Amino acid sequence: MILVAGSANLDFVVRAAHIPAPGETVLGRDFNTFPGGKGANQAVACARAGGAATHMLLALGADAYAVPLEASLQEAGVQTHVVRVKEQATGTAFICVSDDAENAITVAPGANQALRGADLPSLDGFTHLLLQLETPIEAVTAYAKAARSSGVQVLLNAAPAQRLPAELLALLDVLIVNEGELAVVADCSGSMAQCLARLEVPCVVVTLGHRGCCARAEGVYSFESAFQVTPIDTTGAGDTFCGVLVAALSQRHNVQQALPQALRRASAAAALACTRLGAQSSIPTQAEVAAFLATQTAPTEAQDAELRRFCGFEPLKPI
Ligand code: RIB
Repeated sequence: MILVAGSANLDFVVRAAHIPAPGETVLGRDFNTFPGGKGANQAVACARAGGAATHMLLALGADAYAVPLEASLQEAGVQTHVVRVKEQATGTAFICVSDDAENAITVAPGANQALRGADLPSLDGFTHLLLQLETPIEAVTAYAKAARSSGVQVLLNAAPAQRLPAELLALLDVLIVNEGELAVVADCSGSMAQCLARLEVPCVVVTLGHRGCCARAEGVYSFESAFQVTPIDTTGAGDTFCGVLVAALSQRHNVQQALPQALRRASAAAALACTRLGAQSSIPTQAEVAAFLATQTAPTEAQDAELRRFCGFEPLKPI
């Protein structure tokens, strides 16, 4: 059983030709609201991936914005543990999506800021806890500490990027970051290989957008080239990756053995999410991921070599 503890936001999304530069006003086009928030997106991805029951601890305001967020989680089959906050509005995010599928996001955390260590439900029956950084770091650390002492595996997606207390880093079994987050968390401006070498977390997964991803588990590196799709909105793709990854890892006891297949499924789900609008609305089901994977061929040696080089590693020598 998997517990996701984190944020839920209502996303206010406008499409525009490009993302405004500082001081610039851009005349956008269509506007929509979508259920979002890194925590809730990851919980939905985990539930849609199947294989393990998914619960989520979240805080919502006592307002109309909370309604579609709870409905989306319930529709995906996520069992919710809601802290109701009267004094603050439900979290919101203001997102501009450009015609080249990139986004710029500003979050107003609202009720998400009210989550406290004491809100954690009993961890009886849970095997994995998935966390992000859109809720107070003190609560995140308290949840990780409780999980570690109950023998529950702790996974952290360190997004949005911030330096982590050493106490929290020491509690992690799996850290999931993109390149920018890796540089901040490892406090490193060198190559990816150099940054990874500075982190003692047993398993670190680095997502690399359209290039793919790379992971180090117990000293062994794995690489997965990205699947080629035509993206229309990349919002929530990273969250899809995290949720599907934890669902796949929860199927096997040994992270290192589970990793290659987990990376492949997570990458496929994230690629599909980029082809649809919105955050939770874009997350594929397990069946959709399986059907997509059945149409894909293995990456070529050249793609593999290119990814390894990008990460700061030598390509494999032919045997
Ligand atoms: O990762 C995407 C998410 O970031 C959006 O859904 C938005 O709510 C912000 O939390």
